[in-house]
Amino acid sequence: MIPPTRFFQIRSSRPEESRRTTRVLHVVALAASLIIGCYHPGEDQSGNPSPIEALATRGMPRDPVADSRARGRQVYHHYCVICHGTDGRGDGFNSSNLTVAPRDFTDPTFWEQANDERMLLAVANGGAAIDKSVLMPAWGRTLTNPQQRDVVSFLHTLAAPGKPKDPGSGSPPGSQ
Ligand code: HEC
Repeated sequence: MIPPTRFFQIRSSRPEESRRTTRVLHVVALAASLIIGCYHPGEDQSGNPSPIEALATRGMPRDPVADSRARGRQVYHHYCVICHGTDGRGDGFNSSNLTVAPRDFTDPTFWEQANDERMLLAVANGGAAIDKSVLMPAWGRTLTNPQQRDVVSFLHTLAAPGKPKDPGSGSPPGSQ
């Protein structure tokens, strides 16, 4: 065991080394927080990577589907939750005012016949465009085409866990 006095002498006599130790500790803390971050059950509501994540993944190849869904999540939370609900169950706070229930995106039977192009049509031109209720508004003048594709891609993530979802790749329609 190093006597405390000697220990402090070594540290103070080698400031560069102690700075290096501090840097190593920072890296370890960063790695640990990333690992803990990955297991965090609740995602960042915005879908954006944290500044630490952004720094750590800078220059790494991106996953286009995950990126699209993260952007789509923001669109969904801004415009769609009022009717379709935070979890996509069709139970948003405005749903009780509607005579037709907003689509429940957690319903597995919906995903058995769901079709990205059709959903995209409903998003762009409203429910009427796919012979559904006009209570589903048209978003074509509010959302850009990429935002519409992103939000449709995000809808796949609302399917009930463990149930068949993602018919097809679930990548943004028209992105190939
Ligand atoms: C004012 C309430 C309201 C808002 C806001 C709303 N929806 Fe809807 N949406 C509905 C209703 C009601 C239906 C069901 C129409 C039907 O079944 O006739 C629907 C249906 C849909 C469908 C059609 C699903 C199918 O049956 O194929 C999609 C896709 C959809 N919504 C996506 C969205 C997205 C994405 C947003 C946000 C950009 C959004 N909705 C915002 C009310 C809303």
